[in-house]
Amino acid sequence: MRRALVLLAALSVAAPAGAESDAEALVRKAFAGATEDEWRTRLAQDETQALCSKYRNAPPPDIAAQILERERATLKLPDDGRLLGDWREGEKLAGIGTGGHIGRIQPDPPDRRKGGNCYACHKLASKEVAAGTIGPSLTGYGRLRGNSPEVVRYTYEKIQNAQAFFPCSHMPRFGYHGWLGPKEIADVAAFLLDPESPVNK
Ligand code: HEC
Repeated sequence: MRRALVLLAALSVAAPAGAESDAEALVRKAFAGATEDEWRTRLAQDETQALCSKYRNAPPPDIAAQILERERATLKLPDDGRLLGDWREGEKLAGIGTGGHIGRIQPDPPDRRKGGNCYACHKLASKEVAAGTIGPSLTGYGRLRGNSPEVVRYTYEKIQNAQAFFPCSHMPRFGYHGWLGPKEIADVAAFLLDPESPVNK
């Protein structure tokens, strides 16, 4: 598998700018059941992703600043102004690791709920033992940072678009991609910040 990935990486570097690389063509073939729209929205790299690939997620300062500027411009506070929602709903969303399957083999049923899959990368509620370490532990997040307007806003916006703060972050841009809607982001933010949430117990 590792060798295959290295090979794919080499192939994608060899492709001229703008053209579909051999690696991309191979991946596209593997998802023959996906519609063109899904390909465009899910598999074509946007400018930020292309730059992060080009610089192997370590962009030089001027490119990092460019990415930050572009990603910050996508941030949008919710129309109703509610940055904190229902932590119980947020707890569910943080734990849901399904949603978004495309292709022929196991496409999602249309009513499947998409989640944030936060536990894949973060420790959150300490009672949950299956937690990843790709991202920092968020256990005690609200207890440690408090609930100031700045912290609330940062938390909401960070979930909306992680790269607005950290260029080439490995954290998905949940709001930017429309994966989580404004209400869902507020629910997850409450899961991190509410004193009653198991994250802070
Ligand atoms: C694929 C891995 C991955 C997933 C999934 C993920 N994150 Fe992250 N997250 C990271 C990484 C890596 C960082 C550190 C780099 C950064 O700040 O972007 C991070 C940083 C953060 C931070 C900033 C922490 C700080 O100290 O300021 C918050 C808040 C956060 N994540 C919340 C979440 C929430 C909530 C979810 C689920 C909706 C989630 N993350 C899903 C990888 C992930």
